Amino acid sequence: MINELRFGIIGCGSISHTHAEQIGLINGAKLVAVADVEEDRAKSLAERYEADWYADYHEMLKREDIDIINILTPSGMHADMAIAAAQAGKHVITEKPMDVSLDKAHEMIQVCKDAGVKLAVISQHRFDTSTVKVKEKVESGKFGNMILGECAVNWYRTQEYYDSGEWRGTWALDGGGALMNQSIHTIDLLQYLMGPVESVFARKATLAHERMEVEDVAVATVSFKNGALGTIVGTTSAFPGLSSRLEVFGTKGSAVIENDQLTHHYEKTTDSKGEWYGGGKVENLASQSEEASNGTGSSDPTAIFGGAHRIQIEDMIQAVLENREPLVNGEEGLKPLEVILAIYESARTGKSVSL
Ligand SMILES: NC(=O)c1ccc[n+]([C@@H]2O[C@H](COP(=O)([O-])OP(=O)(O)OC[C@H]3O[C@@H](n4cnc5c(N)ncnc54)[C@H](O)[C@@H]3O)[C@@H](O)[C@H]2O)c1
Repeated sequence: MINELRFGIIGCGSISHTHAEQIGLINGAKLVAVADVEEDRAKSLAERYEADWYADYHEMLKREDIDIINILTPSGMHADMAIAAAQAGKHVITEKPMDVSLDKAHEMIQVCKDAGVKLAVISQHRFDTSTVKVKEKVESGKFGNMILGECAVNWYRTQEYYDSGEWRGTWALDGGGALMNQSIHTIDLLQYLMGPVESVFARKATLAHERMEVEDVAVATVSFKNGALGTIVGTTSAFPGLSSRLEVFGTKGSAVIENDQLTHHYEKTTDSKGEWYGGGKVENLASQSEEASNGTGSSDPTAIFGGAHRIQIEDMIQAVLENREPLVNGEEGLKPLEVILAIYESARTGKSVSL
């Protein structure tokens, strides 16, 4: 019987510390090796977490004592690395977005299936207490028919942030800007709670930064397959970095998640009174547990704490042990990517784009 799953990390930059630390906190998980083309980064992460290090990740993939590979490199590299890991027989956890190209994302799903390995795509906020609660309300019909979903990620990133890595702000490796890199979490939650997106109509612009190819402001209207409507706003130009906000409304209830906390929740009961003018009793359930609470990253990209990452890594461990799909598998990871790429196409063509 397997009693310990062993991890290897590719990419020892900002988010690698969250993964390494959280793996270290899980009983039955061990980080055994890390790889980065920047040897200093690989060495320093390896020393801190008592792992071996490699400059060439292909060498690390040859090790037989690694079960799961975490891919934490620039987004446009994820699919190629996932494919190499799967072909080496390793299960794969990849950071979001799963890749920047839909074709590549489909290929990585297929290769993982063919190799018989699990694929999980990080979308840690699906594991937040707030999200779990609202999802349960929507699924159980407590909110009635869903009619409106809005999300706004009004964040800020400095020019230095975009200058800090050659891949940042490029189409080839970041795959997009405020939406693909920062707002993807909230866009994923929007479609997770409201249901699949049918079409989008969008505009995007680069207004507050230089030396970047991608957007720092984008807005879109959304039609969901169930007939509901919605909006998406994402920016990295909202100085000095405000909130990420998600609001979902059904015929019998509504919820607001702000900075990952459930700040408003209301559902109609048989004795609900005083609602004719919108005066229904609002129950405030700001009850996000510390456990799953992540830093918001509204102005500081390093302010991402790891609790929800840990829960998602634990889900992958259970998926491997029980031979089931992880909660956010490749098909789930595709959904926000499809929405964001449709928004970019709509903004480019000036036309509504169906998914
Ligand atoms: N889930 C989250 O909240 C979250 C937060 C931050 C970043 N991310 C995602 O994590 C990924 C990495 O982001 P980051 O901010 O840590 O970037 P980063 O630039 O800080 O780190 C990326 C690392 O990958 C390394 N690398 C590049 N090419 C490589 C190769 N061929 N082999 C091995 N290593 C290579 C770089 O040298 C660098 O150290 C991105 O996809 C990003 O979207 C997710």
